[in-house]
Amino acid sequence: MTVLVLYATVEGHTRKIAEHAAAQLEASGHGVVLADVREPGFAIPGRFDGVLLCAPIHMGRYPTPVEQFLIDWKAALADVPTALVSVSLGICSGNSEDRAEAEGYPAKLEKKTGFHIAKVHHAAGALKFLEYDFFKRMMMRQISTKEGGPVDTSKDYELTDWAALDRFLGEFADDVALAARA
Ligand SMILES: Cc1cc2nc3c(=O)[nH]c(=O)nc-3n(C[C@H](O)[C@H](O)[C@H](O)COP(=O)(O)O)c2cc1C
Repeated sequence: MTVLVLYATVEGHTRKIAEHAAAQLEASGHGVVLADVREPGFAIPGRFDGVLLCAPIHMGRYPTPVEQFLIDWKAALADVPTALVSVSLGICSGNSEDRAEAEGYPAKLEKKTGFHIAKVHHAAGALKFLEYDFFKRMMMRQISTKEGGPVDTSKDYELTDWAALDRFLGEFADDVALAARA
């Protein structure tokens, strides 16, 4: 069985998550093709037994190429197990309204694209204070303060729960194997 792992990223953390997912899926016995959703090349649905999309939230939405990919390929995606790893900071906020907003992003994506992704994992993302420019650093510090997150801008933070992600990937690997046997 071969799985397509596609990602979008702005700051690089979702690529790291996608690379981790690709390694985990390979370890569970699947062949894996990993590609950037902006440049999928030959890595397009229809040739794969499952598709895992990894996408971050920036300013309240997934990157446009993620939306376009779902619109373009929804018919092929509907034929195989398709899952989403939604990467955001709101999901680990100390504020329940922020968490509810983060949990609602996949439904908004469905509304825009007309494609329902049955399996979704919410992963907390990263705060890359050392890489942000001055204004982004101040904005992200302000958001993190409001969410009860880290505020020391002299460090980067990875808030992803890798063990929880691995449990999700294990379930997805099983779904792909089961669907391919059916
Ligand atoms: C400019 C900017 C805007 C962001 N906007 C949101 C947002 O609206 N909601 C949210 O939950 N997280 C937001 N985040 C957090 C990102 O989802 C998180 O940093 C993620 O790890 C980014 O993934 P990437 O490195 O693959 O781009 C934002 C981050 C940045 C830098």
